[in-house]
Amino acid sequence: MSNEKQLLQSVRGTSDLLPNDQPLFQRVNRVFADIAIACGFKEISLPIFEYSWLFQKGVGSTSDIATKEMYYLHHKEGDNLDIALRPEGTAGIVRAYYEHGMHTWSQPVRLFYSGPMFRHERPQKGRERQFTQFGIESIGESDSSEDALVILAACQALYRLQIKPENFSVHINSIGCTHCRPKYIKKLLAYIKTRQDKLCDDCLLRAETNPMRVLDCKNKTCQAHTTDAPNHLDHLCDNCKNHFKSTLEYLEEAGISFNINHRIVRGLDYYTRTVFELIAETGTLKGQALGAGGRYDNLVATYGRRKAPAVGFSAGVERVITILKDLKLSKVPTEKPQVFVIQLGSSAKKKAFSILRQLLAAGIKTASSLSSNSLKTQLKMATKNNVRFALIIGQRELLDKTVIIKDLQNGSQETVDLKQYLAILLERLK
Ligand code: HAM
Repeated sequence: MSNEKQLLQSVRGTSDLLPNDQPLFQRVNRVFADIAIACGFKEISLPIFEYSWLFQKGVGSTSDIATKEMYYLHHKEGDNLDIALRPEGTAGIVRAYYEHGMHTWSQPVRLFYSGPMFRHERPQKGRERQFTQFGIESIGESDSSEDALVILAACQALYRLQIKPENFSVHINSIGCTHCRPKYIKKLLAYIKTRQDKLCDDCLLRAETNPMRVLDCKNKTCQAHTTDAPNHLDHLCDNCKNHFKSTLEYLEEAGISFNINHRIVRGLDYYTRTVFELIAETGTLKGQALGAGGRYDNLVATYGRRKAPAVGFSAGVERVITILKDLKLSKVPTEKPQVFVIQLGSSAKKKAFSILRQLLAAGIKTASSLSSNSLKTQLKMATKNNVRFALIIGQRELLDKTVIIKDLQNGSQETVDLKQYLAILLERLK
């Protein structure tokens, strides 16, 4: 860091969530959590850093995340603790599943989480270096109904936020299993060889590390030269074919429309069978994923533990907020204070403070300006805050042991005994 000006700026790719944006952020998380709970998922919170190998092994050592995007943490020189900020949530959930013996619980274990993730990507619209994911993970069930449940929960949360089916689309694919995928990869590699001189450098690299990712290259020339690439769906084994067919049947039954898209292969290596993305069809993020997920039956075994089938999904919370803003759905009713405590005179200030304590103890939302000396200013503030009642205490009320309750809606006011004001106020607030 070279100068103070830089010190007073947030780090590139990060942003502050200001008070005005908090209600929407909380609403998005709340709606996803409500749907998750209604589908039988339970909340879990994990640390934001883990041993690096957990991610390298999980998302794949050749994936963009592991090769370019992880933030490694160094405590001090010579510290060889190899830890990294989490770039995603799934690997940590699997770690916790075994660490806490969840494999001995009744299966599937359905968990949800929300929190910051960190990826060193080139910041652009919809792409931050710190962003928030809301995720659900179901571990221990291989049946296609679980894949469908996860997709249903994801769509249902967006619907409840009033993002309509026409505002996003579900793109789904199956990338097979360890039995059928190697045969498909062989075919795909043979195909890629015939196009080598037409593809970008990234694709040529991917052909060596993860050939399926050639299909999801965003470069238009590469896309044009892979339109007739072998389709994974034509090369699934019978079990994977049936699993995919059954997942789609569940979605049809639930009235969720989807596009079968063989270019959806996902950038994380742990996926098997179902993979899907919910793509924005409107607004500034059009074409980008609001969320994504899939099945990862081999991830648990990757860590050397007994195989456990699993499927999950994560939404990009900031992206969901962006589409809500684009659709003009970002207004969230905020909680207003119920009572404004007005004081006049230095002794009344102290009494007002004790009244504030009583109101808070009674669960009443308050507002006040104890530093203010003018009745007019405080009344103005109360009106601006849209507060229903003002409690006014001045020198006279102090002597009489009374307080004025003023109804700011109809302008009426009455002086009541200090011993009774709380009961009267609570009654009026009902
Ligand atoms: P992902 O596709 O890498 O999957 O991320 C999921 C979602 O997080 C994306 O669809 C996007 O909305 C959001 N996201 C990703 N990167 C950024 C970024 N740099 N800035 C803003 N938003 C971003 C996963 O992370 C998997 N763990 C999902 C999953 C859960 N699969 C199974 N279970």
